[in-house]
Amino acid sequence: MTKKGCIKISHLTWGGVDCQELAQRFGTPLYVFDAGIIRSRCRELRETFLERWPNTRVRYAGKAFLIRAMAKLIQDEGLGLDVVSLGELHTALSAGFPPERIEMNGNAKSRAEIEAAVKSGVGRIIVDHPDEIRTIDEFAGQAGIVQKVMIRVAPGVDAHTHKYIATGSTDSKFGVPADSREGSMLTEAIKFARECEHVDRRGLHFHVGSQLFDTDDYTKSIDVILRLMKDLKASLNFTTYELNMGGGFGAVINPAIPAMKSEYYTDAMMKALIDGCKSYGLEVPRAILEPGRWIISESGITLYTVENVRELPEVTYIAVDGGMADNPRVALYQAEYNAVKVDDADGEIYHPSNGGKVSIVGKCCESGDILIDDAEIQAVKAGDVIALYNTGAYTFSMSSNYNCLMRPAVVFVEDGKARVVAERQTLDDIVRGQVL
Ligand SMILES: Cc1ncc(COP(=O)(O)O)c(C=O)c1O
Repeated sequence: MTKKGCIKISHLTWGGVDCQELAQRFGTPLYVFDAGIIRSRCRELRETFLERWPNTRVRYAGKAFLIRAMAKLIQDEGLGLDVVSLGELHTALSAGFPPERIEMNGNAKSRAEIEAAVKSGVGRIIVDHPDEIRTIDEFAGQAGIVQKVMIRVAPGVDAHTHKYIATGSTDSKFGVPADSREGSMLTEAIKFARECEHVDRRGLHFHVGSQLFDTDDYTKSIDVILRLMKDLKASLNFTTYELNMGGGFGAVINPAIPAMKSEYYTDAMMKALIDGCKSYGLEVPRAILEPGRWIISESGITLYTVENVRELPEVTYIAVDGGMADNPRVALYQAEYNAVKVDDADGEIYHPSNGGKVSIVGKCCESGDILIDDAEIQAVKAGDVIALYNTGAYTFSMSSNYNCLMRPAVVFVEDGKARVVAERQTLDDIVRGQVL
């Protein structure tokens, strides 16, 4: 709480740093991450999963947010990393991330990506399409190594989430259907991989979807996969030594609501896995998780400056200096957020006298550039700074230069200190590489 005149005003702090000061010091829009929250999420996963269940692994899904400082933090916390592109692989390797703790996913890997993954020594390549196996074998042969792979299957479970972040249905663009019949994509891939001298088939992978708040989709998927494992053992003598059960743990959107505990998911998943293996007569495979948003989302806020307020009969628009270029998730799949005025964080919520709603919108030339359609926020005016909570995941990593906007800086805050870990783009960055 800070005193201004005789009025008590509550300031939002993040990682022990006043958000108004962060905005003044680094400008807006600004991505701010509390590194302490990220570390505590990693610690929670270590304690409730890695230490409780022997022989397990966690690979942070870098697609949620990956810069070199994040790769370093994940390395320091003892987790592995899931990458899906040459760029993500390069980011991790250039931060000194150990390649054997990296796994490469991706539904449309290029030859260059497979070559770089194999030659840099990544721990696992998750085969998403059977054609990848030949390319992996070729590059692993050139490197004189045997590449460990896992095959991604779609369990045929329709996850309870937005269809754009559901990935486990049989008609998904990811992986091959969980079909053990003779001649299926999966059995042909397994047989082909068996013939490849430089490919070691370690097991299976699935990711049923994201932003999941109950465990049903996981336990149903695990049951499908265990039946598949049993059939593949019987028909092809294929052993699943490792099972990657993907990510998808939900991130809460309202900071007033306690975050989901990782053990809520992992206990149910491990019970389904262990009990299922027992009843199907299977050895329990090494279990691997790939959470992204659950680790990073709630550690992040985005600071914006209000440019103007427009009161219309049915809606009051608060227009800010960022929008869909730094956070396209609302336009993409109607992600929801909460916001606060940073220098009046406990202040009363503004209700327009005409009874209409308040929408926080961006500055991009799209009517769909909305950050919060129906917002609850204190009264604001041009120049005020607001924070959107829970913007750590899939914002920086999905950002664009739409309208030639410069990508905001990223700041890590911890124990009252702030440091820039990714610089704000400049006008030179906007035209870099362009010729007349
Ligand atoms: C294969 C795979 N693993 C992990 C993740 C991470 O998901 P989340 O960030 O919801 O945990 C995704 C998300 O798309 C994915 O496709």
